[in-house]
Amino acid sequence: MSLAKPPFVAGNWKMHNSLAETRALIGGLVPFAAELQDAEFVVLPPFTALAAAAVALAGTSIGLGAQDLHWEDRGAFTGEISAPMLADVGCRFVLIGHSERRQFFGETDASVRLKIPAALRAGLRPIVCVGETLEERDGGRTMDRIGRQLDEGLADRAPSDFPGLILAYEPVWAIGTGRTATPAQAEEVHGFIREKIAARAGNAAATCAIILYGGSVKAANAYSLFREKNIDGFLVGGASLDAASFCGIAREALRAYKEVQ
Ligand code: PGA
Repeated sequence: MSLAKPPFVAGNWKMHNSLAETRALIGGLVPFAAELQDAEFVVLPPFTALAAAAVALAGTSIGLGAQDLHWEDRGAFTGEISAPMLADVGCRFVLIGHSERRQFFGETDASVRLKIPAALRAGLRPIVCVGETLEERDGGRTMDRIGRQLDEGLADRAPSDFPGLILAYEPVWAIGTGRTATPAQAEEVHGFIREKIAARAGNAAATCAIILYGGSVKAANAYSLFREKNIDGFLVGGASLDAASFCGIAREALRAYKEVQ
């Protein structure tokens, strides 16, 4: 069971939702979030929908975040968005190093390393994603891969940075595939990530750290995943595009959480 932290559930909308769809989805989420108050909800719309989402979320407890950022605060970087811009539009969170950015858009552990302090400087909480490919898992290299992503991405981080960081373990083979890691597979990696945080920032930081699981999470698997000791919540893609299914995940995680309170 998640070291007794209430569930943190973030919805990565990816390249989905017009302004009208954004307002409609948030309109659907608000009543659920009010009912599931013990869970922390965050939505991560595309850049074009952030301002509309901020208006729709005003006065609610649902947090707002973006899916990426540039590591400089400003400058001649055509097409890019900076952390101060995200903070200005109302974001409190930002994804960094999502596997789709790594796979299709040249994101590396080196760019992740630069983006984390940019987010922290602007007061944003980075959600730093790590995960192995199927080839790496089948070749027994999962922990090597995750360890390297953490060592390189977090190389400059001081222990005092860790309360602001959120980690997300997303096995690449489980994203958008309908194939979820088993609770035991996810827990093994989450435990490893927590040990890496303890080694870098101490046991207290590791205990407090929020470590999310992502990859085909839905209401049907959220309960058993959240019962694992080191799984603190979820980064949800496809199932976050529907208010009932997104909140169903939070409801199942809360059920597991409340069983041990
Ligand atoms: P999925 O995506 O839930 O659709 O597998 C998760 C993610 O990419 O964050």
